[in-house]
Amino acid sequence: MLTVTDPQKSAKTISARTESALRLSGTVGANKVMESELLRLVKRSPFHVRLPKPARQGSMALRYPFDPEVAWVAACYHRSSSRIGWELASSPAVRLEPLVADLVPLLAADERLPSGRSVTFTVEVKGAEDFEAGPLQLRGAVKSAFEQAMQKRGGQAVVQSKDPEWEMLVRRVGQEGDRRTLLILDLGRGPRHLRGQRVAQGPAPLRETLAAQLVLLANWMPHLEPLVDPTAGSGTIAVEAALLARGFAVRKPSDLPALRWPAFAGLPPQAPPLYSDTRPFILASDVNEECIAWMIGNLRASGLTGRDTEHAIVVRSMNATDLTPELFAEILPDAPKERGVFAFNPPYGHRLQADSGGLPRLYRDLGRTFKRFDGWRAAVVVANEEFKESFGARPSLVKPTSAAGLRAEFIVYDLGGTQNRGRSESRRSKTKRA
Ligand SMILES: C[S@@+](CC[C@H](N)C(=O)[O-])C[C@H]1O[C@@H](n2cnc3c(N)ncnc32)[C@H](O)[C@@H]1O
Repeated sequence: MLTVTDPQKSAKTISARTESALRLSGTVGANKVMESELLRLVKRSPFHVRLPKPARQGSMALRYPFDPEVAWVAACYHRSSSRIGWELASSPAVRLEPLVADLVPLLAADERLPSGRSVTFTVEVKGAEDFEAGPLQLRGAVKSAFEQAMQKRGGQAVVQSKDPEWEMLVRRVGQEGDRRTLLILDLGRGPRHLRGQRVAQGPAPLRETLAAQLVLLANWMPHLEPLVDPTAGSGTIAVEAALLARGFAVRKPSDLPALRWPAFAGLPPQAPPLYSDTRPFILASDVNEECIAWMIGNLRASGLTGRDTEHAIVVRSMNATDLTPELFAEILPDAPKERGVFAFNPPYGHRLQADSGGLPRLYRDLGRTFKRFDGWRAAVVVANEEFKESFGARPSLVKPTSAAGLRAEFIVYDLGGTQNRGRSESRRSKTKRA
């Protein structure tokens, strides 16, 4: 229910309006990492654009002034966000009829929408608990508003749930006193963790978007540092790391029907790798031999088994606690050794029940194993409160998130050594902020 506490303020802010921001949304606390990833991608992109500071909406969404080139880069390449959209219109209405009455004229007058053409579309509603009708009714109302608006523009909008041209997202956003129903055009073709490249998954696969966040939070420098996932399961972290290192697109422009809107006319039809010359060194291993076939399948499906990456991504079946700097040097002889990154996602004891008894011992043994790697860093995403104490090192960054519906944390450690000392200092302040 909408509560309006300050009539002065409500008169000023509570009205339906056309929106235009580019919107990146992610998991809890993802804002900072999504922002730094986009900055890096835009700098490396074929466009000479300056990325302004985004406005933050809570800890899970960033809003940028709309620029088609930036939107193109985000929709094609951005890995840490869950959804990428273009905001179209918003209304303070919490009931169906006023919402339709607000949306129809706004959309009918919106010159971004085509006129005199027939389009297929679908509507997804999420996070609208404070709307006074259920999600299905809300969805029906937005569909109807869109159909009416397109008719007024001399065209037609036809609902189609499979492979529609446009996917509209409806969300309730904003602070109490200025809550709005927001209509967004999905630019990134659905939930971004559905990469379309996972052919096999273990019993506890990590979401690709979380794996990307983990690697970005670890501040991995692929040209200087190897990356090791010693509890790799089906290899999600290793795959994401390799794709981030090479700057592979998540989606091809031709797979993004929303990029056919006139605003994107003339932008490139292809999205080639942004760092095609980077040759990362990655080791993905797991104690479970079955994982090897899954990892190889997933690497192959991601286009990571060609000549460029041969010998750069190695998969092994082994106990993580057997790893030593000497063994690592044997496995990846050409990789830099004096520094590196462990990026991993150990068992939590929730989905992998059989492991739960010995988890604190496993965490402790992993901590001891990694301390053999002086000068390296370790970044973990884990949903088990015992991890920090058992791992036995002082984190330089702790960031809450959620994994598999559980409260989880990203934790980064500097494992000693001179390279990490400077980093450690700057990280300490981040620990407080995170
Ligand atoms: C949460 S799963 C990792 C899932 C992985 N991130 C993915 O996306 O598929 C944890 C993995 O740790 C592995 N594991 C457990 N104990 C291990 C050990 N001592 N050494 C290596 N791997 C271990 C399990 O076999 C399991 O595959």
